[in-house]
Amino acid sequence: MWVCLCEQINDQALTVSYVQGLKTVKQLKQAKQLGSTCGKCIRLAKQKLAQLDSSL
Ligand code: FES
Repeated sequence: MWVCLCEQINDQALTVSYVQGLKTVKQLKQAKQLGSTCGKCIRLAKQKLAQLDSSL
């Protein structure tokens, strides 16, 4: 499933980035440009990060 379609970031890529230390939307935006085009993915990205926080 795509998290950020504009920047081609899917669930798997988000999880890999999280494990590598990108644990906030701000960090993902700076490093991967998540949310930097239309911004519609921010809410979903926050949900996914919260799930990762509670599961990893
Ligand atoms: Fe992420 Fe557009 S879907 S910036």
